[in-house]
Amino acid sequence: MDTSKLLNLREFEPLAREQLSQMIFEYYASGANDDVTLSANQSAYQRILLRPHMMTGNAQRSMKTTVIGQPMNIPILIAPMAYMKMAHPDGEYAMARAALSHSISMIVSTTATVALEDVAAAVPNAANWFQLYLYKDRAAARALVERAESCGYKAIVLTVDRPVLGRREADIRNNFALPSNMEIKNFPAEANREGVSAYHAPIFEDNLRWSDVSWLKSITRLPVLVKGVLRGDDARLAIERGADGIIVSNHGGRQLDGALATIDALPDVVQAVDGVVDVLIDGGIRRGTDVLKALARGAKAVLLGRSLLWGLALNGETGVGHVLDLITQELDLAMALCGCHSIADITPDLLADEKKIFQNSV
Ligand SMILES: Cc1cc2nc3c(=O)[nH]c(=O)nc-3n(C[C@H](O)[C@H](O)[C@H](O)COP(=O)(O)O)c2cc1C
Repeated sequence: MDTSKLLNLREFEPLAREQLSQMIFEYYASGANDDVTLSANQSAYQRILLRPHMMTGNAQRSMKTTVIGQPMNIPILIAPMAYMKMAHPDGEYAMARAALSHSISMIVSTTATVALEDVAAAVPNAANWFQLYLYKDRAAARALVERAESCGYKAIVLTVDRPVLGRREADIRNNFALPSNMEIKNFPAEANREGVSAYHAPIFEDNLRWSDVSWLKSITRLPVLVKGVLRGDDARLAIERGADGIIVSNHGGRQLDGALATIDALPDVVQAVDGVVDVLIDGGIRRGTDVLKALARGAKAVLLGRSLLWGLALNGETGVGHVLDLITQELDLAMALCGCHSIADITPDLLADEKKIFQNSV
């Protein structure tokens, strides 16, 4: 479908719903239990209002930044997401190509439907990262990390908020299963042969500990980011074990329902981390102003999730590209209207929190 008439990220979802089967749409869209966290992630951004600067002479703007020491043209990455071939036959290939043509890094999931080597080969100049769900079998986990390292991924993202799967009732109702013509290509061959679905994967570690971060650091030269942190004290523990970056995330509301919105968790984490490593965030980001608010609260970059799956479902690589164009243009507009020349100009004083409004009115 031609998405070029769509004006913003939210317009993609209802059209994708029409296009996908109920089982697939709801697998992508739903959160856990009552979707409290899923909706809080988005609504929390709407409670944060902006105090823009005027008259800064910012006709020329740049979104260039550095994340864990890696240069980026735009402070946006593609969040790791499972099973992209369910959205479109080109699956992870289409996502990766759109990412590369927009100079955006994609975080390829352990549960991808294209092997990590094949994604890498399709986008040879990309600066992509690999997301790891730790396997109970550490030798198999190590082999997976070594595969990612040897085909050029630039960082490992260890997801820590899935010791067990959150309860997604839509999936239970729909008897969710990966379509039989697809495989989780990064799994050890015997796991797929045995028909292990990642959905109930007994191969994932359910006894995660901070020492696993130390272990991961000991087996790879790549930087390691820890994804799924919602508290400053946990972020400190991750850093003590060697984490090179923290991703504030509640898995898009798919794990613990009732967990706080990520943008509300961010200040505690940023304060605890105190600039020692970079902090990134995902969850509920649908507007350029959301990106600007996250950066103003101290995030170095943001990850986009579901909106890209809707673009992929509607029009493959072109649809993903359209989503990336819209959010990038919106961020540029938000910077223009807030008086920012560069990412460094996106500072906390742009946020009109209650305390600052009070201070400014007396
Ligand atoms: C369909 C789907 C699959 C996901 N798969 C993974 C995954 O394999 N690994 C992971 O770390 N996070 C996974 N996530 C979580 C995302 O990385 C991200 O945290 C979340 O989607 C961001 O929120 P948003 O969708 O509101 O943008 C998944 C999310 C969705 C919606």
